[in-house]
Amino acid sequence: MKINIIGLGYIGLPTALVFAKSGLEVVGTDLNTDLVNSLKWGKLTFEEKGLDELFNNAISNGIEFTTEYHKASFYIIAVPTPYIEESKKLDPKYVISAVSSILDVCEIGASIIIESTISPGTIDKYIRPVIENRGYVIGVDIHLLHAPERIIPGNMVYELEHNSRTIGCDKLEIGLIVKELYSKFCKGEIIVTDIRSAEMSKVVENTYRDINIAFANELAKICRADNMDVYEIINIANKHPRVNILQPGPGVGGHCISVDPWFLVGDYPDLTNLILTARKVNDSMPKHVLGRIRDIMRENNIKDISKVGLYGLAYKENVDDTRESPTLQLL
Ligand SMILES: NC(=O)c1ccc[n+]([C@@H]2O[C@H](COP(=O)([O-])OP(=O)(O)OC[C@H]3O[C@@H](n4cnc5c(N)ncnc54)[C@H](O)[C@@H]3O)[C@@H](O)[C@H]2O)c1
Repeated sequence: MKINIIGLGYIGLPTALVFAKSGLEVVGTDLNTDLVNSLKWGKLTFEEKGLDELFNNAISNGIEFTTEYHKASFYIIAVPTPYIEESKKLDPKYVISAVSSILDVCEIGASIIIESTISPGTIDKYIRPVIENRGYVIGVDIHLLHAPERIIPGNMVYELEHNSRTIGCDKLEIGLIVKELYSKFCKGEIIVTDIRSAEMSKVVENTYRDINIAFANELAKICRADNMDVYEIINIANKHPRVNILQPGPGVGGHCISVDPWFLVGDYPDLTNLILTARKVNDSMPKHVLGRIRDIMRENNIKDISKVGLYGLAYKENVDDTRESPTLQLL
């Protein structure tokens, strides 16, 4: 039984390695030749706690890296899912392209599992037609599932094994087979549900984080405007047994929290006032921090021509991912 992981970035690579560690035959495919060559030469493409050991382990278990799609029983897709700047809707082009390439090589009975984050309805709207237009009957010739990922950069290896996860499927019996597959390494609870619930729950999780971070950031702005200490206030408020306010910061980044809530805004523009406002609050934070830097410089008679050093360009601590980083926007 072979697994082909498609897309070897922040999500696909650790997933491929952890499957290989569990003893399964794994091949990892990515279109980026430099990335694949680097992995073939035994060099990791990004830093992450525990990834080195997992990599060495997977190599001894015979993991392969290639730019070609292979015949396999299970395909796991972890390609990017950005949003379209103007419409805010999800851009499915990478997932569509991956599914088409799988169909070029796969055999009847294969399962295609999309791990990439996708908005509710994406599989119905964009992916089923790609498969059906090739003459396959979904659920008979090809099985289609969605197993979104929720690991946090900086603690991915631990979370891969310990987080609970979701599998969305059309048929329970196929969902249970894929649950069995993920149980090879996942010690957390694995919930099997329908595809649309799996799509929606993943986007909801990141939207929840975005909104809660936005609340902390808005409090920071209010407290700054009227000379109150936001940290003291959050600390006191969090003593309430049902209050848990997050810490304010310079904004949000990465490929998840600053992206996924837009999918809901794009698809449900009349129903997403709160979500849109939270997005705007978090996106306004680099400008707010810039204003604070200017104020502090003036208060301390530091000239505008002085150099300002920015330490930490990634979107959060202990990661090397600078995508959508608020610090880069500040810069
Ligand atoms: N990064 C995270 O923290 C995180 C967490 C949970 C979920 N996700 C989701 O996982 C998905 C992947 O995110 P990522 O951060 O790993 O992205 P990434 O950009 O790090 O990796 C994606 C990889 O896919 C490759 N690729 C693109 N199109 C391809 C194709 N047709 N065939 C083969 N390879 C192809 C790219 O070359 C790239 O190496 C996204 O949907 C993201 O929202 C990311």
